[in-house]
Amino acid sequence: MKINGKPYRTIWLAKDGWSIEVIEQTKLPHRLETIGLKSAEDCARAIKSMQVRGAPLIGACAAYGLAMALRQDPSDAHLTRTIAFLAEQRPTAINLRWALEEMRRAVVERPPNDRAAAAYRRAADLCDDDVETCRRIGVHGLEILKAIAARKKPGDPVNILTHCNAGWIACVDWGTATSPIYQAHDASLKVHVWVDETRPRIQGAALTAFELGAHGVPHTIIVDNAGGHLMQHGLVDLCIVGTDRVTANGDVANKIGTYLKALAAKDNNVPFYVALPHSTIDWMLDDGMTIPIEQRSADEVLKMTGRLPDGSIATVEIAAPGSPARNDGFDVTPARLVTGLITERGVCEASREGLAGLYPERRAS
Ligand code: MRU
Repeated sequence: MKINGKPYRTIWLAKDGWSIEVIEQTKLPHRLETIGLKSAEDCARAIKSMQVRGAPLIGACAAYGLAMALRQDPSDAHLTRTIAFLAEQRPTAINLRWALEEMRRAVVERPPNDRAAAAYRRAADLCDDDVETCRRIGVHGLEILKAIAARKKPGDPVNILTHCNAGWIACVDWGTATSPIYQAHDASLKVHVWVDETRPRIQGAALTAFELGAHGVPHTIIVDNAGGHLMQHGLVDLCIVGTDRVTANGDVANKIGTYLKALAAKDNNVPFYVALPHSTIDWMLDDGMTIPIEQRSADEVLKMTGRLPDGSIATVEIAAPGSPARNDGFDVTPARLVTGLITERGVCEASREGLAGLYPERRAS
């Protein structure tokens, strides 16, 4: 997608041909900066600190981190150690483990002196595959938006509510939840997005609003608790969110607060869609309640970071001194609250049958 007219991906190989550059997400929307990552340790640090975040993107970053590690030491022991080290940086998004497993498969049978080159090739493929996958999610999601637009008064926008950032900044390009929105906007279908601010790290206000604005998509930031009220007043036509892991039965883990939006959507007959690439499906789990939920620092709840009038960025305390806080990073929306899963292969029911219908090759797993 474009920022100030310039096309970007979120991750690319640096000029040296072996390190990577990424958009530094903790500085957005105040500053557009990139950082160079030159080792698996750099990649791990960027993933943990959420300079690089979003389920597909952390997988892509870890893939390159592994390639850099194999450039240093292509031994079996280092391969195994680095995969375990990168995978432990964030527990909920299955894409991280999926990408590392793809990388293992691409190199493990190769002689050590060929492993790094094979790893770089596979990491580049994973990035390109993510772009095409997300583009196709948009093609299928666009049909849903068109159908809703056809039922509205001519000229009225389709109002979409989204949570967190499942945009191109969370992927390599296009995004998952945002891909149908960008494709609708580019096709001159009128859309407007309600952007949940998404406390505590405000990925909605800081990232989703930034990228929608940069692409010219009309949007409005709302506080996290406003969605139900807007739905009661007929101001939301549908919700589209991303996800960090979908279990084989269609349960959906996503940023904390997603479940409450799904409940409100159900109560108000608002369709609730989840957009996801194949790499987000955990075929080994059959119950969302068994997904590991990342516990993050209480500081993220007790403090907020923003820009001061002089342009400097500052972090301030917002709570009574001494009060403890709890910070579950994700929640699980049961499949029964999900209207449909929008994948690169089409839209399906959030159920084992629905997913197996789209991915018949996984039926046996
Ligand atoms: O903790 P984050 O910001 O990495 O969480 C991101 C989300 O919850 C996204 O909605 C999800 O990863 C899907 S990204 C396409």
